[in-house]
Amino acid sequence: MDGDTAIKIENLSKSFEDILVIKDSNMNVTKGSVYGFLGANGSGKTTIFKIITGLLSPTGGMVEVLGMDVKKDSERILGGIGSLIEAPTFYEHLSVGLSEVGKKPVGKFSLGMRQRLGIARALVHKPQIKEQYHESLENYFFNIMSGVNTSC
Ligand SMILES: Nc1ncnc2c1ncn2[C@@H]1O[C@H](COP(=O)(O)OP(=O)(O)OP(=O)(O)O)[C@@H](O)[C@H]1O
Ligand SMILES: [Mg+2]
Repeated sequence: MDGDTAIKIENLSKSFEDILVIKDSNMNVTKGSVYGFLGANGSGKTTIFKIITGLLSPTGGMVEVLGMDVKKDSERILGGIGSLIEAPTFYEHLSVGLSEVGKKPVGKFSLGMRQRLGIARALVHKPQIKEQYHESLENYFFNIMSGVNTSC
């Protein structure tokens, strides 16, 4: 893996019990790029995102994020990733002190407001890799995974 690579996946496979849902998947995401990740329902996009973020273990193959192996370094990798996979979850009774919404609890936010809050939470630690996965914002109608430098 060279220094320009944010995410490298080689021959990834994933089974749930005996059912193979990902077979020989390969991906190369360069730092500073925006990478669109599209596929049919059930094709394995979320499963791959979860493997990249350490929420699931690969069955076979190799996944490196920022030069680190997801099997060995998942905690360190998390420090370099801001991710929003499907719907964000929050403490619903808390407010977040945004000027436009006053003391409204998160439980009363609209879908788009929740999604924007989820993005803000994913970016607050200034990660090198930003992953977004949802369709509720107009500008995010497809699944997008980017390796955009935090200084951009
Ligand atoms: N925890 C699980 N246990 C068993 N099977 C699972 C599990 N998670 C996902 N799967 C299966 O793995 C396959 C891929 O699912 P995944 O959620 O990754 O698809 P997706 O590409 O994100 O789909 P969508 O576009 O609908 O979000 C599906 O057949 C799904 O049923
Ligand atoms: Mg999905």
